[in-house]
Amino acid sequence: MCGIVGIVGSKPVAGRLVDALKRLEYRGYDSAGVATVYDGVMDRRRAEGKLFNLEKRLDSEPLDGTVGIAHTRWATHGVPNETNAHPHFVEGVAVVHNGIIENFSEIRDHLTAEGSVFESQTDTEVIAHLMAKYLGEGLQPQAALLKMLNRVTGAFALAVMLKDHPNTIMAARSGPPLAIGHGKGEMFLGSDAIALSPFTSEITYLVDGDCAIISRDGATILDFSGNVVKRPRQISQATAYVVDKGNHRHFMEKEIYEQPEVISHALSHYVNFADNTVGANAAGIDFKSVSSLAISACGTAYLAGLVGKYWFERYARLPVEIDVASEFRYREMPLQPTQAALFISQSGETADTLASLRYCKENGLKIGAVVNVRESTIARESDAVFPIMAGPEIGVASTKAFTCQLAVLASLALGAAKARGTLTAKDEKELVKHLAEMPRIMSRVLNLIQPQMESLSRELSKCRDVLYLGRGTSFPLAMEGALKLKEISYIHAEGYAAGELKHGPIALIDENMPVIVIAPYDRFFDKTVSNMQEVAARGGRIIFITDEAGAGASKLPTMATITLPNVDEIIAPMIFSLPIQLLAYHTAVFMGTDVDQPRNLAKSVTVE
Ligand code: G6P
Repeated sequence: MCGIVGIVGSKPVAGRLVDALKRLEYRGYDSAGVATVYDGVMDRRRAEGKLFNLEKRLDSEPLDGTVGIAHTRWATHGVPNETNAHPHFVEGVAVVHNGIIENFSEIRDHLTAEGSVFESQTDTEVIAHLMAKYLGEGLQPQAALLKMLNRVTGAFALAVMLKDHPNTIMAARSGPPLAIGHGKGEMFLGSDAIALSPFTSEITYLVDGDCAIISRDGATILDFSGNVVKRPRQISQATAYVVDKGNHRHFMEKEIYEQPEVISHALSHYVNFADNTVGANAAGIDFKSVSSLAISACGTAYLAGLVGKYWFERYARLPVEIDVASEFRYREMPLQPTQAALFISQSGETADTLASLRYCKENGLKIGAVVNVRESTIARESDAVFPIMAGPEIGVASTKAFTCQLAVLASLALGAAKARGTLTAKDEKELVKHLAEMPRIMSRVLNLIQPQMESLSRELSKCRDVLYLGRGTSFPLAMEGALKLKEISYIHAEGYAAGELKHGPIALIDENMPVIVIAPYDRFFDKTVSNMQEVAARGGRIIFITDEAGAGASKLPTMATITLPNVDEIIAPMIFSLPIQLLAYHTAVFMGTDVDQPRNLAKSVTVE
């Protein structure tokens, strides 16, 4: 949700600021802006829409300041137009902001009554007005910043630049992440270390309640009362990656095809392929002594957690309580310190997931984090970190992070089973062997199904609604399939437990609505086929995603049958993810939508 960057440099910074924004575009892309200051002049360029609009603007009207701040926006307050784009300027104050100022309306009314004139509909503009007011009253920049920070409430990461103090950027964090980068004679600020990776790998993360005064020589970090605090400087593991699609049309396609490689990487962190055993990295939580596990996450990560629940309960006999984080955090559920909690997040910054984590921590639970970004807030606040090692995921619709989350959760469930004595050594070897086969099978499946997915997507693109059904671990997959399709093609789709069909969705079935049934030949197969019968009896068109055994066993007529190799139950969710990802991808490509940056979405959701 919005990306922030800043540079206190010694040569013009606008180009580098935009370069850094490109690495943050996953956080929002409905408008962008940059402001710089130099020689008594503070100026800005802003543009509605994608970052290339801002680049075009800067090409025709360059900025040559050596100190600057920039922003890519995901709109919360106010439509995505140029006026609402950041940086906001008020009397020599420039502000960029990520998050929500919850008391903005009261502050705005108060300032308006005093004579301030607001230009935009944003909550952010109150920050610029408050700063201008306090500076106008004679406060020094640091004192004005502290006074402003104590006036606003909500979740925010922000940067402030002043025309009259052109060698400094001020920053603050209360919620969304913010990192300071240390250069040689230059300093940097960014929403994450990846944004800063081309400039420096020496990073200091601000923690909640920190603000910073950043100049060319370094940064002073203070709490909101003005006391100096020390934060460690660390070497970031975020490597300077090239924003590059390789030979693929979209990042999403590239990320789908990367899955065999990244899953193999992730698995090798948790299991020993040499002797087919679960390794020590899967034992970061003392699963033996915990009474139950609470899992919480948002979006696709939640659906990965739901698959994980089946595995922890089945293999480790460990009861799992799972909920979407936006509900979990407010449910006031009674928690015991004997429980452990697992939070799943690609970004490691999702506001609701982080709040749920803190709630569990306050209640004394041991906290584990399944994250892609190892330096993220969720990782830093957890007792045990389980990296999914998917590499940067740029496509907003998650693909490789989902299957890597699944691979890690499967390994952890087996680790828990081993610790709890519910897994024999023979079964452990057998199951790990199946996990080890997964990357090879994934490669084969991706090649095998590609042409069929492409032609089927033409049919899907004509539909208004699509229903996905599955049982067991295929139920969360049905929801993930529907989520993927609606996210990027904007076709309405719902995922249901196959057994729930007759309790409502059956009323929708007619010849216009395809029903995608996900059914490997497992212990639920016959039950799911009965539900398919109910669909067929009502003239519904079935797209059947099954395996060779399932295709042989079902005699029902289908609109299409996608036949995957027979695989063990433990790897089926990862293998069956591939057709649902490719189906959504090709449908969106066929419809001509913006696959990597679908409308209204953002990849990292740091607001409630
Ligand atoms: C957004 C993204 C999803 C993601 C969800 C949770 O909605 O578009 O792809 O699953 O946030 O994000 P997280 O970073 O916590 O996994």
